[in-house]
Amino acid sequence: MTSHKELAELAIQAKSKSIATYSNFHVGAALQTEDGKVILGANIENASYGLTMCAERTAVFSALLDGERKFSAIAIAGDSDDYLPPCGACRQILMEFCGKDLDVIMINLKGETKVLKMSELLPHSFNEEFLK
Ligand code: THU
Repeated sequence: MTSHKELAELAIQAKSKSIATYSNFHVGAALQTEDGKVILGANIENASYGLTMCAERTAVFSALLDGERKFSAIAIAGDSDDYLPPCGACRQILMEFCGKDLDVIMINLKGETKVLKMSELLPHSFNEEFLK
C-alpha cells in the first residue's frame, strides 16, 4: 500500500501532466484504491473556461472507467502556498464515488501535507438517499 507521503509525491509529479493554458495554475492528483492501485489526474482547461476539469475529477473518472469502485485516499497538489483543498464540485464527486471516510491529503508548495476526511470537507452532503 502506498503511504500518504508517497501518494503526495505522486500528486506533485502528476502536476506535470496538467494542461492549464489559461490559469497557469497546475494541479495534480493521486487517487489510491483500497487494493493499492494509484490513478493519477491533472487539471485540463479549455478556451470555454467553464468546461475545465479539475485534477481530482479527472482522477476519479479515469479510475471509474478502469472499473475501480473502492478508494482509500486522494492526494492533491497545486501551485499554492497553502494546502490545496478540493473545490466544491470535486467535493461532491469525491463524496459520492469515494465516500465519507476517504482521506484527503492536501499539499502545499513546500510539499507539507494536511489530511482531512471527506466527511469533514463536506458535512451534510446531498446524496442518492434524497432521490428515493
Ligand atoms: N483546480 C483543480 O484542478 N483542483 C482544485 O481543487 C482547485 C482548482 C483547477 C481548475 C483550474 O484549471 C485551475 O485549477 C484554476 O482554478
